[in-house]
Amino acid sequence: MMTKSSAPGKIILFGEHAVVYGRPALAIPVTQVHADVDVSDSSRAGIWIDAPDVNLHAELNTLPSDHPIASVIHNFLFLSRVSKFPNLEIKINSTIPVASGLGSGAAVTVALTRALAAHLDYSITDEEVNAFTYEIEKLHHGTPSGIDNTVVTYAKPVYFIKHPPSPDRKGAGGEVETFKVGQPFTIVIADTGISAPTKESVSDVRRLWMNDKSRWETVFDKIGEISFTARRAIEAGKPELLGELMNENHALLQKLTVSSLELDRLVETARNAGALGSKLSGGGRGGNMIALVKPKIAEAVSLSLKEAGAKNTIITQVL
Ligand code: MEV
Repeated sequence: MMTKSSAPGKIILFGEHAVVYGRPALAIPVTQVHADVDVSDSSRAGIWIDAPDVNLHAELNTLPSDHPIASVIHNFLFLSRVSKFPNLEIKINSTIPVASGLGSGAAVTVALTRALAAHLDYSITDEEVNAFTYEIEKLHHGTPSGIDNTVVTYAKPVYFIKHPPSPDRKGAGGEVETFKVGQPFTIVIADTGISAPTKESVSDVRRLWMNDKSRWETVFDKIGEISFTARRAIEAGKPELLGELMNENHALLQKLTVSSLELDRLVETARNAGALGSKLSGGGRGGNMIALVKPKIAEAVSLSLKEAGAKNTIITQVL
């Protein structure tokens, strides 16, 4: 018997970093890239993991328990309280670039959790998958807001506000509202090819904030207002307003020191090629940027971004 599950990548449209401090953020799934997991019964003893993208071929118990994939399986065993695990082969393939802001870790956790649950007949709701994935994200990313696991679990556009920290609060970290897209719009995503762990940029922003809270709270407020206004513009079917909001959001992310020369170059290139607006997306310092474009120039903007050094581009319609 074989059980399969797949989870999409994600991209943040507005509000990264400020979302960690309780301001709203908007994110969408990116279905062109995904993590795919197959779980099957095996005649070999143990739980064998085959993840060629990260060059991993190993039995579970030979891996350190904090290994990102091993930790998902160990924690799932604990959650499901399955008394005896059968021998399993687990195949993990992902087209989501690692450490690029596209949510590769969350997507692997969501797909692996759902595939294991289905294979072992353990019934799990979306809310439980989301809460479980948030716990795993916390193990590896320090103080995540919960937006990545949420958009990847529900595979829908989300407007997300993190809950204030509370030791007894259960769940996946925040208030989740899905929103309607009044009129479809087109985004070009471009990868700098520079992998940049979100954990580092998030902890650098925390250091800034600790040193001058009132200054950075003002910046977070401005970013939160941008997310709020962007949601209204998307729902009202006025996506052209989003371009200016993206540019403003990028300038505030530059102030937060999470942009980089490469990101700024791609952001400028997109604007010069006719994009309505552009910004970095996710943790920053590398990873991806996004540009809002009219559909007829999407290919041309994508080409300009590649000529300016982007390693890969994705054109996605937000519907
Ligand atoms: C990462 O995709 C987005 C950040 O806001 C971190 C987080 O929300 O956990 C930078």
